[in-house]
Amino acid sequence: MKFYLLTIFPEFFNSPLRIGLIDKALKRGLIEVEILNLRDYTTDKHRTIDDVPYGGGEGMVFKPEPLYRAIKSVKERDPETKVIYLSPQGKLLHQRLAEELANEKSLLLICGRYEGIDERIRAHFIDEEISIGDYVLLGGEVAALVIIEVLSRLKPGVVGTKDSVDRESFTSGLLKYPAYTRPSDFLGLKVPEVLLSGNHREIESYRRKESLRLTLERRPELLRELELTPEDRDYINSLLEKQRIYLFLIHYPVLNKRREKIASAITTIDLHDLARLSRTYGLKGVYLIQPLEEQRKLAQELIDYWLHGKGGLHNPLRREAMKKLTIVSDLEEAIQEVRNMEKIDPLLVGTDASPKRTYLLPEQLRNLCWEKPVCLLFGTAWGLEDSILDRCHYFLEPIWGRLDSYNHLSVRSAASIIVDRILGIYSFYKKKLLPKNNQFQERLVS
Ligand SMILES: C[S@@+](CC[C@H](N)C(=O)[O-])C[C@H]1O[C@@H](n2cnc3c(N)ncnc32)[C@H](O)[C@@H]1O
Repeated sequence: MKFYLLTIFPEFFNSPLRIGLIDKALKRGLIEVEILNLRDYTTDKHRTIDDVPYGGGEGMVFKPEPLYRAIKSVKERDPETKVIYLSPQGKLLHQRLAEELANEKSLLLICGRYEGIDERIRAHFIDEEISIGDYVLLGGEVAALVIIEVLSRLKPGVVGTKDSVDRESFTSGLLKYPAYTRPSDFLGLKVPEVLLSGNHREIESYRRKESLRLTLERRPELLRELELTPEDRDYINSLLEKQRIYLFLIHYPVLNKRREKIASAITTIDLHDLARLSRTYGLKGVYLIQPLEEQRKLAQELIDYWLHGKGGLHNPLRREAMKKLTIVSDLEEAIQEVRNMEKIDPLLVGTDASPKRTYLLPEQLRNLCWEKPVCLLFGTAWGLEDSILDRCHYFLEPIWGRLDSYNHLSVRSAASIIVDRILGIYSFYKKKLLPKNNQFQERLVS
């Protein structure tokens, strides 16, 4: 594979290309690099490559003519070369994209500087724009080196064994398991027993599990693209069991329209919908907090109908969900029940439709769920009263649909949306992704 590097600092690449495996790959002809100085494609005596931006503003912009001449000259020599502009506005580089690019015969990597390149070159003479991350570098040279390293690793022969490439983070679709080396005891910190056992099957299985665990905790979205074996699924499920979320539906103290403290009535449909939500997302339970005895009796009668009466016989799936419901008379009782089960104080997380607190993001709460049981508090009527909110350790941001202040959702909808924002990322059961370049996508594009 050949890389053409178009830069105004050719000397930048002197040492990085003379070190380690890249140096060897170049010497063995596994990859080829040709450095092109953009100034060689200028025609004026000052070899000018940039100019001030039209419309004013900071910095300089690469002029179109030298870029055009450079691209044209490479294309004339090597018509199939793919022209890539390294740019923070580009497609984010990831392993799959690298695997696609590694199939190309040659790449022309254009390294920008200052304010970047003239838009007409970007829009008409570039095949692909690639960013190496959501940050801004001083120039594209570092990004070009990243591309050379990532792609070269994929070329057979560049890295010692193919196996070590296949097992790296991302190549397998999973993050790599942790590595240990001698000594087996370092300051009392021991290497896991299994790695010293010499039992290769057990070591394989341990490493696979560690990869799954790390990926689930740090980058769960990667698991969506992966074919999981039944053993993987069982293991992931056992890990997800450790995320303990309880949902508290509070009927007192809540607010009415005039912002007065009231007790609200139980709504039957809340019971059904929250029970089904809880079963679907693996929540540990739903506590209905209701101080009015008559109301509690009514709700218990309904639950019993599904658990022990005709309802459950007719619809066992609904019975399974309704098992998630527990009725208690106040918040303290609900917290105590969770404490008894978990043997640790749960985190109380308030939800509120009006923006007046400092908020946790759903992904931050998702990470906390690995450490502690979490109770999500939802208010009925016009929302939770301050005495409840003041007890909460954290708050979740109100749900905003659009750029206006209308967000009057039912508590059932709000709970579903919030739970999905926290746990929906783990929904990789029987996923069927559209294959790349399939007809449906092509139709969308055309
Ligand atoms: C200072 S940057 C230009 C930033 C540009 N004005 C902007 O705000 O997007 C100069 C050059 O560095 C390179 N560069 C900067 N950040 C990059 C990134 N994250 N990935 C790839 N190339 C990058 C590009 O070639 C860019 O033209």
